[in-house]
Amino acid sequence: MNIEQLENTAKAMATPEKGILAADESTPTCTKRFESIGVASTEQTRNAYRSMLFTTEGMEEFISGVILFDETLRQNTVDGGISFPKYLQDKGVLPGIKVDKGAKPLAGYEGEKVTEGLDGLRDRLAEYYDLGARFAKWRAVITIGKDTPSSACIEANAHALARYAALCQEADMVPIVEPEILMDGEHDIDVSFEVTEETLRTVFDALYREDVYLEGMILKPNMVLSGYSCAKQASVEEVAEATVTCFLRAVPAAVPGICFLSGGQSDLLATQHLNAMNAMDEVVKPWKLSFSYGRALQQAALKAWGGDDSNVETAQKAIYHRAKCNGAATVGQYSEKMEKESTPV
Ligand code: 13P
Repeated sequence: MNIEQLENTAKAMATPEKGILAADESTPTCTKRFESIGVASTEQTRNAYRSMLFTTEGMEEFISGVILFDETLRQNTVDGGISFPKYLQDKGVLPGIKVDKGAKPLAGYEGEKVTEGLDGLRDRLAEYYDLGARFAKWRAVITIGKDTPSSACIEANAHALARYAALCQEADMVPIVEPEILMDGEHDIDVSFEVTEETLRTVFDALYREDVYLEGMILKPNMVLSGYSCAKQASVEEVAEATVTCFLRAVPAAVPGICFLSGGQSDLLATQHLNAMNAMDEVVKPWKLSFSYGRALQQAALKAWGGDDSNVETAQKAIYHRAKCNGAATVGQYSEKMEKESTPV
């Protein structure tokens, strides 16, 4: 385990004014996204789409790393035939890899899930490192319901996250530790706060027990939001305050970066929430607060692309714009004016 390399990679991932592009949709998830725009999901169309995203000129001004899926890590740019990890590295963008095998039903706990993928992970990490990946991602899913989450579900997922993180560090790769509490449901923001705090405390306990080096990891959590079907939706300021308060209580200061997932928020809200947190100048925040968005970075570009090569330029303008707005939000400098000024036509 190379401590210096881990620290440097984690710091680079959490550079101010930059964040992470999550483009690691598994094939079934990518197929779902393509269905929404009427495009068939084949190895070739997925390759063309990812190539469009990654070859966006100037994206490296706001993107420090890209999370890839196994198939994508082995693919090449459409024009030029350069492997994606090499292409990204040459641009100064760190390539990362999703290594979990998905959230599967947790036996004995109806409606709850535990993420699989630990078996054989050491060997897979070694191969991914050789292919150029310098960080990894593992996503755990926690559901809020009438009787959920159970402590069994939180503990099983925390344990798996910690074992994954330890294996990544052994392989000199920075683990992105992603415990995602889904925001589907009618619960209010207070319930989100409670569940997020309990989950984070359990995850950091497990990381401590597995001897994970906190300075060499990145946390990728949900924000503390009102459930999407809750009648009373918290304001942007309330979300920012609840999220920062919760994280100050549960996330050690040694963690260099907290890069949020967007989790089904609109593009605008995902940017506004992040900006509001970073604009809270009166609160000392020991970690960088940034983004690791999938949908909130890609939605507009996916729609603009529509599977048609002739739309590549428009789609690239759309992703560039969202990356720029979110880059500004990492330092509390995003504004409505900026949103409008640089909106692509
Ligand atoms: P979203 O930002 O679309 O939630 O995706 C982030 C991610 O990587 C989920 O694992």
